[in-house]
Amino acid sequence: MSSSAIAEILKNFQRNRSEALIPVLQEVQEADGYISELAVRQISEYLGIPSSKIYGVATFYNQFRFSPRGKFHIQVCFGTACHIMGSSTVLEVIERLLKIKDGQCSKDGLFSLEVGTCTGGCGQAPVIVVNGVFYGKVTEERIKQIIAEMQDEAI
Ligand code: FES
Repeated sequence: MSSSAIAEILKNFQRNRSEALIPVLQEVQEADGYISELAVRQISEYLGIPSSKIYGVATFYNQFRFSPRGKFHIQVCFGTACHIMGSSTVLEVIERLLKIKDGQCSKDGLFSLEVGTCTGGCGQAPVIVVNGVFYGKVTEERIKQIIAEMQDEAI
């Protein structure tokens, strides 16, 4: 997202009003999919809030991303049912296979990974969602298959 596009969003908010931080971050993320370093610097300057505080607040709310999404965005449900059915293991498997952690994007830009909340498919736990497509009762083998299919699709 360009500096001028960020400035367009900021124009809708009053300067030096720290209470606008969360709505500003939400709008930037909505428009760009994540909050870039450039965006943090511009928001900091516009609202008069140090960058370190912006990162602190954004991290606390746990709804903001600081890296772009990959072509395939994988969300691992960490709701109660999925947690009981092994979502921690699912996350570990994906992290190991893709060599990325929760909140990161792979170097080739193909995959990003994020822990998510209940998708409403608890009966199919553990659940992952890839680009909005739901996969239930996932096992390590199934995860390997899904990732291989996406890698093939990307070629
Ligand atoms: S807890 Fe995972 S779908 Fe509901």
